[in-house]
Amino acid sequence: MSKSSTSISALARIPRWTRQAISRLLFTTLTLLALAGLAEPQPIPPQIPTLKQAAQGLFSIGVGISDRIPERPADWSLLTAHYSYVTPENCMKVNPIQVVEGQFDFALADAFTAFAVSNQLRVCGHCLVWAKDDRTPEWFYRENGKPASREVLLRRMKTHIDTLAGRYRGRIAMWDVVNEALDDGAQFLRPSGWLSIIGEDFIAKAFEFAHAADSNAFLIYNDYNNELPDKREKQIRLVRLLREQNVPIHAIGLQGHYELDQIPFKAIEDTLVAMKALGVKVVVSELDIDVVPRSKWWADGGKYREELAKLDPYRAGCPPEILQRQAEQYGQLFRLFRKHADTIARISFWNLHDGQSWLNGFPWKRANYPLLFDRQGQPKPAFDAVIKALQDPQSGR
Ligand code: GLA
Repeated sequence: MSKSSTSISALARIPRWTRQAISRLLFTTLTLLALAGLAEPQPIPPQIPTLKQAAQGLFSIGVGISDRIPERPADWSLLTAHYSYVTPENCMKVNPIQVVEGQFDFALADAFTAFAVSNQLRVCGHCLVWAKDDRTPEWFYRENGKPASREVLLRRMKTHIDTLAGRYRGRIAMWDVVNEALDDGAQFLRPSGWLSIIGEDFIAKAFEFAHAADSNAFLIYNDYNNELPDKREKQIRLVRLLREQNVPIHAIGLQGHYELDQIPFKAIEDTLVAMKALGVKVVVSELDIDVVPRSKWWADGGKYREELAKLDPYRAGCPPEILQRQAEQYGQLFRLFRKHADTIARISFWNLHDGQSWLNGFPWKRANYPLLFDRQGQPKPAFDAVIKALQDPQSGR
């Protein structure tokens, strides 16, 4: 007889109820042991804060998004997790709001605002006057086939601002009142119908009308390259002029459409310091870092355009070393922003993730990667760098 058959027959001699009791005991003991094992302290995955959490107490974080956001549920969780402000990409611009005099089209803007309000997102309206002729419907400037008079253009501006800012009073926290009025060349202000028909005070008037339409809104003058020394001088002059006349301007906006390896850190810092001295806040209104730099597009009368139009180096994906460089530069930027947080009211990115960036198509078609989230909405190295900079006490005030 083998040893095992002896033990089986020995087991069989134990009464059935005792065997059942033993197996119940065994089961309970094993279960308790297993539970005890589970209760052991497990390593806790690092909590990744959201952008708005990491920036709490410093400034608000926002994003410029598609007018069609109410119809894009796939974007909602990323949007509401990280951002507290939204700027509609196009639907509140003069064109399309009032393409024909007196015919306002609020369909998209109404839906956008309702969506934002119901998701506890604050809205930055963009923009009441875009001081460029190609962005202003022609009818504003014309009257009976002739150039409109100052009075007529001012009346049209007032009606536009009253109607738009008045409609959303209390639901729009900030307005970009005037966009892109400073000249890129030798002049103070860009040539436009606004300037030639009304005069330099068209900017002051726009702010006054905006304040009259919604006295609680935070009012911004917004532009690009206005941190660069030449244009900064004009920006300072404009703010001084408005301040002297008690015009209600609360902030200037630096659009912040930067290019990899060419971020003007010092110029940004000098501008933040200058604006603090003038007593206005700064918002970074349309931030992104283009990884296929585009500035040559405008150089030397456009002679590089043909060559650039063929340039699409990262169609198959962005190399990790580029993403890493971008992360470092985003990190440096946000350390600077954190250092000057007392001057900054809001930082908004321009578009939600790389796949939605305007820089995939402007000024030529190329695969671009300018934001903190990739095409799947996943955080990139730049995201981690921004969070780290926001939380780094070394970059504190
Ligand atoms: C400018 C405008 C924005 C938007 C971007 C590009 O910066 O202010 O409204 O048009 O260009 O998308």
